[in-house]
Amino acid sequence: MIKVLVATDKPFAPIAVKGIREIIEARGYELALLEKYTSREELIAAVADADALIVRSDKITGDVIDAAKRLKVVVRAGAGYDNIDLVACSARDVVVMNTPGQNANAVAELALGLMVYMARNFYNGTSGSELKGKKLGLHAYGNVGQNVGRVARGFGMEVYAFDPYMTDEQIKLAGAIPVHSVEELYSTCRYVSLHVPATAETRRSINRDLLQRMPPDAVLVNTARKEIIDEEGLARLMEERPDFSYITDVAPDSTLFSKFTGRYYATPKKMGAQTGEANVNAGLAAARQIVNFIEKGDKRFKVN
Ligand code: 3PG
Repeated sequence: MIKVLVATDKPFAPIAVKGIREIIEARGYELALLEKYTSREELIAAVADADALIVRSDKITGDVIDAAKRLKVVVRAGAGYDNIDLVACSARDVVVMNTPGQNANAVAELALGLMVYMARNFYNGTSGSELKGKKLGLHAYGNVGQNVGRVARGFGMEVYAFDPYMTDEQIKLAGAIPVHSVEELYSTCRYVSLHVPATAETRRSINRDLLQRMPPDAVLVNTARKEIIDEEGLARLMEERPDFSYITDVAPDSTLFSKFTGRYYATPKKMGAQTGEANVNAGLAAARQIVNFIEKGDKRFKVN
């Protein structure tokens, strides 16, 4: 019998788990659930007899793949797959997929929520500012970036986007004003929202040189990954520029920013994709992709 393991340190909403179970069991497969595990050993033991794996930001490293002797497919229920060792998976012919777009609206709503929270001085009752009429730069204009743009336009923001993989026409059709370099994006926009994946190329690429171009009262919004930020450079810039704010859903490991009271906020736990709707969208998509892969060899969302 095919065994599908859902291994989520940060569990899906129960309604999503129910939906995943229905899809998996309807095919006569077995569903195993490992949630909120507290050690790598637990994960390593759980994967031993799994044919397929559904994860979120769970780290699927070489030792996990080694232990998963029957594994054929891993689906990251979400967009970013920097948590999965693709080399180790490919070496074992394990197919890795993601579920692009499925949690994009949830992340976008949080990005705007964070912007309002900062603009209204953390809801402390003092006079804040509005988003209407402000320039928002979207660094990358994929599924999440486009959803942030859509919601931001509802607030009356002027939305710019930089995306090296899109033409001006594509960016315009998707509702934003195209810019042609990251430098132009950062020097134009008071708000910049990050939507680039964490790769060897983007690691620490959001650095002081780039950020210091931002106009007065700049706000950097990071619902993407902490790895893309040069945190020391950003902290130095925030020392130099008391008008610079940073809001993030991917809190740094360090305490570098805690001194910037009133212009720094990090969610206590990464929660951009943490809605029932996003869990259902991404979780059920992952379950369906596994069934389609096992039954028809469908590799449509393969990333390795
Ligand atoms: C993603 O890459 O899809 C998001 O960062 C969501 O991650 P999560 O599933 O860990 O909440």
